[in-house]
Amino acid sequence: MKENAMEYPKQQLLGDTPPEEFRKQLHELADWIADFREHIESLRVAPNDKPGAIRQQLPRRAPDEGEPFEKILHDVDRIIVPGMVHWSHPMFLGYFGWTSTAPGILGEILSAPLNVNAMTWRTCPAATELETVVMEWLRQWLGLSDEFEGVIYDTASVGIMHALAVARDEAAPATRKLGLSDRNLPRLRIYTSDQAHSSAEKAAIALGLGEENVIRVPSDDQFRMDINSLGQSIGEDRRNGLQPMAVIATVGTTSTASVDPVGDIGNLCREAKIWLHIDAAYGGGFAMLPEYEWLRKGWELADSIVINPHKTVFVPLDFSVLYVRDLERLRRVFSLVPEYLRGDTVEAEKNYMDYGIQLGRRFRALKAWVIWRSLGRAGVVARLREQIRLANLLADWIKKDGRFELSAEPSMGVVCFRFVAGIGDAGPGSPIPATADKLDQLNSDIVERINASGRAYLTQTKLRGRTVMRIGLGNVLTTEEHLRKAWEIIQETAEVARPKSQIPKTKSQTSFNQPNPKRSKRD
Ligand SMILES: Cc1ncc(COP(=O)(O)O)c(C=O)c1O
Repeated sequence: MKENAMEYPKQQLLGDTPPEEFRKQLHELADWIADFREHIESLRVAPNDKPGAIRQQLPRRAPDEGEPFEKILHDVDRIIVPGMVHWSHPMFLGYFGWTSTAPGILGEILSAPLNVNAMTWRTCPAATELETVVMEWLRQWLGLSDEFEGVIYDTASVGIMHALAVARDEAAPATRKLGLSDRNLPRLRIYTSDQAHSSAEKAAIALGLGEENVIRVPSDDQFRMDINSLGQSIGEDRRNGLQPMAVIATVGTTSTASVDPVGDIGNLCREAKIWLHIDAAYGGGFAMLPEYEWLRKGWELADSIVINPHKTVFVPLDFSVLYVRDLERLRRVFSLVPEYLRGDTVEAEKNYMDYGIQLGRRFRALKAWVIWRSLGRAGVVARLREQIRLANLLADWIKKDGRFELSAEPSMGVVCFRFVAGIGDAGPGSPIPATADKLDQLNSDIVERINASGRAYLTQTKLRGRTVMRIGLGNVLTTEEHLRKAWEIIQETAEVARPKSQIPKTKSQTSFNQPNPKRSKRD
């Protein structure tokens, strides 16, 4: 560091980049973004480095002196981009493959210079009012009644925590003021299926309810919550002096995108006076499709619903919505106006800081407004339909290849399947019995090998204790051709990964587009 700070050029120590230079940098960045988007397919989908590889290339000490943007951007190209899993790559088929879109990127860019804090209406009227408007738009797209009003959070995990905080206060009034301890309260219980997301337990941990009070209800052969088991669990808990507080029904479970019988669960909740939360983090977007109206069955019985538009309504991460029937219930639990903001909250308009633990809030509504205006309802629906078409197409290919088995019927954009011809399965009378554990390992190996190759990216999950491969469609850049290529990579890799002694001498015909009528169920 230079001894005398006065020697620095003025703009380096004070103020901002001069406008002309900033303009030049913005143009450069615009080109960078356009090039990245245009050529993303030429990148590896994922790196294959060991942990620490990125850190090794970066200085341990923060810079003492400012560096030019060009140099920083050069390092993004050199170190950051190769060190990323490219979720926007058309061959990225992992998790719930959310997507980048050009309008989504533009929306994100737009919010950067505005950089407001949308905590109260007065701190940014446009951010507050636009949030109300886009929540209303999505509500209409989903056909939800106007009893529901929404608030934007970053993630579904945060949404469910807020919903359950309200459920907790309604089950044990005054918890907001007094907390839970030393009040002689019964243990409060939450029920959700064995397929539901772990955000239920995380919320229970954060709210002091205890993760063991989240009861995992068994699911049926289609991975949907078993309503009889739910009724039994609730009854048993009541008999044991415990207090049922909430049921979480899932519309689009994490592994298979299965859908719980929300209508039946809702009726049970109504009768038993239990809070019903619907986790539609993934499935929520698909509920916009007229042919998927059945997904919305029972939503009218909910107390709260979480939807992640960053998963299926094309808004860039992060953007999750919590709808609450009578949003005032949420406000009653979280409104706490610090003295220094009292003057800011006098207007009748909503102050979104009252609806959660966050005070400072990003202007997230802007990017939703940009993308939803750019695509319109028709554009959203058409793209979701394409995801469903591709998922069903892949399921057909899997069904036609006797070495693989579909592990669950495809739901929305998710396909789970398993390679079953790998081990000790060279046909009837094979001397080596197939072992499920070895097949688990083989399926896991196939996924790892593909991901390490950088050519495609998928994930694995466990269904009924067995490892399966999982593909989640969602990227607008993923076409039928990409999926075809991914399926070929999976087929090839499975052949390479299976133990060599088990490969039949004559390689059977396995291509989906050249079906071999002679192929046995397991070749
Ligand atoms: C069904 C379901 N609910 C909740 C979540 C949590 O989402 P988030 O990452 O927004 O917290 C996920 C994550 O994938 C999910 O699959």
